[in-house]
Amino acid sequence: MKLKQIYVCSACQHQSPKWAGQCFSCNKWNTYAEDVINVGNKERTYKAIAIKPKIHLSDLPETAKRITTGIGELDRVLGGGLVSDSLVLLVGDPGIGKSTLTIQTCDRLAGLGRSVLYFSGEESVGQIATRAKRLNLKNPISIVNTNSLEAILATIEEERPSFIVVDSVQVMSSENLDSHAGSIPQIRHTAEQLMQVAKQKGIPILLIGHVNKEGQLAGPQVLTHLVDTVLYLEGDNFQQFRLLRSTKNRYGAVDEVGVFLMEEKGLTEVKNPSAAFLDGRAENPIGSVIVPVLEGTRTFLIEVQALTSYTQFGYPKRTASGFDLNRLNIIIAVLERYANLKLDSSDVYVNVVGGLKLKEPAADLAIAMAIASSKLKKPLPSTLAAMGEMGLSGEIRKVTQAEKREKEAKKMGFKVVGGKTIGEVIHGAFGFEESPRP
Ligand code: TYD
Ligand code: MG
Repeated sequence: MKLKQIYVCSACQHQSPKWAGQCFSCNKWNTYAEDVINVGNKERTYKAIAIKPKIHLSDLPETAKRITTGIGELDRVLGGGLVSDSLVLLVGDPGIGKSTLTIQTCDRLAGLGRSVLYFSGEESVGQIATRAKRLNLKNPISIVNTNSLEAILATIEEERPSFIVVDSVQVMSSENLDSHAGSIPQIRHTAEQLMQVAKQKGIPILLIGHVNKEGQLAGPQVLTHLVDTVLYLEGDNFQQFRLLRSTKNRYGAVDEVGVFLMEEKGLTEVKNPSAAFLDGRAENPIGSVIVPVLEGTRTFLIEVQALTSYTQFGYPKRTASGFDLNRLNIIIAVLERYANLKLDSSDVYVNVVGGLKLKEPAADLAIAMAIASSKLKKPLPSTLAAMGEMGLSGEIRKVTQAEKREKEAKKMGFKVVGGKTIGEVIHGAFGFEESPRP
C-alpha cells in the first residue's frame, strides 16, 4: 500500500494534489480538507471467494449483550445499557462535562468488577487523579497517558480490559500516517482501528470527540457513519443542567434524553426532571408560563419567560434564548394581528429557563401567553400550563400526544389551557380586547 496525500473538496468531492482556498471545480471557498488515497498496487487482480449467505436470521447467534453502566440516565440513552462490542462516540462543547461523565461511568463499571482502561491524550494522569479525588471515586481505573494510536492498540492487546475510553479522538494519531493529529485521515483511521478492536475482541469502547464552533462534530462525517452510537452532551456552560441525547444508535431509539446536574462533586442524575426544572419559580408570576414538552418517552414541564419593554429608539429588539428567533418573530406577528396586542414599539425578550432549548412547535402558545402577560402586566396563575402550535392565521393546532402531556402536567399540579384561536385564549386569560387594528 502506498499512500499519497491529497485534498478533497467537502462540497463536490473534487480531488486536488495541492491545497487551495477555492475549489478548482465548484469554486466554493474553504472546502478543501486533507485526505489520503492509496496509489500503490494499481493493477490488482484480486479474486474473491463466494460466501455462502445465511438465509435464516433466526439461525444466527445473537452476539450483542448489554452491560448496565450503573448510571441510569446513561443506560436510558444507550437504549438499556452499553452493548458489549459497540463503539460509542460522546461529543460536546469543551468543558461541558464529557470527561467527568466518562470517568464517573468508569468508576461505576470498575465497581461492578470490570477492568477499565482510560487512554487520555488531553490531560495528564495527575490532572485525572485530581478530578477523580474531587469526584470521590474509589474504584480502580487504569489510566494511560498517550497520543499514539499504536500504543493504545498494543496496550489493549496486553491488558485485555473489559471497557475502554479514548479521550479524545482529535488528539490521537497513528505513526503510519503523515498527517497531524486531528486531521481527517487521522480521525478516520483512529475510529476504524478502534471499531475493529470493539468488534473483534467484544470490548465496548467510548470515544470522546469535540465539536467545533458551529456545534458540529469536528472531523469527518464519516466518523458518525462509522461508530455504532453518537451521544451528545449539551447544556449551557453557565447553567447546571446537562442533557445527554443520542443522534444515532444502532442498538436503540434515538429520541431518549438523559438529564444530569453538574455539581461540585460531578454529574448527578436527575430522576424527576419536571420538578427540577420548576425549582425556584415565583408565585403567580408575570410573563412566565409552563409548557409540557416531550423528550423521548418522557414529558418535561419547562418554564418559558418573556419580558417586554418600551423601545427607546429605533427598531424594536427581539431576543430569544433557548428558542428559535424566527419562530418568535412569527408569534409576535400573530399576536399583533389576531390578539390585538400592540408590540410594534416593544422590545421582546424570551428565555427558556434552565439553559434548555425548545424546538417543539407545541411551545408556541406558552410563549405567546408569556409575552401577553408581560405586555399587559397581568400575572398568570402559577399552576397554568399551555401547549399548542400557532398557525399564521391565529388558529391553535393540536399537538402530538396531547393526553400524555396533560397527564404529566396534572400530576405536577398544573392545569393546561388551550383554545381554538390565539385571540380566544388571550381574551380568556386576561380579559383583554383592544379595538381591532386597521
Ligand atoms: P470536563 O469533564 O473536563 O469537560 P470536557 O471533558 O467536556 O471538556 O468538565 C469540566 C467542567 O466541569 C469544568 O468547567 C468544571 C466543571 N466541573 C464541575 O462543576 N464539577 C465537577 O465535579 C467537575 C469534575 C467538573
Ligand atoms: Mg475532557
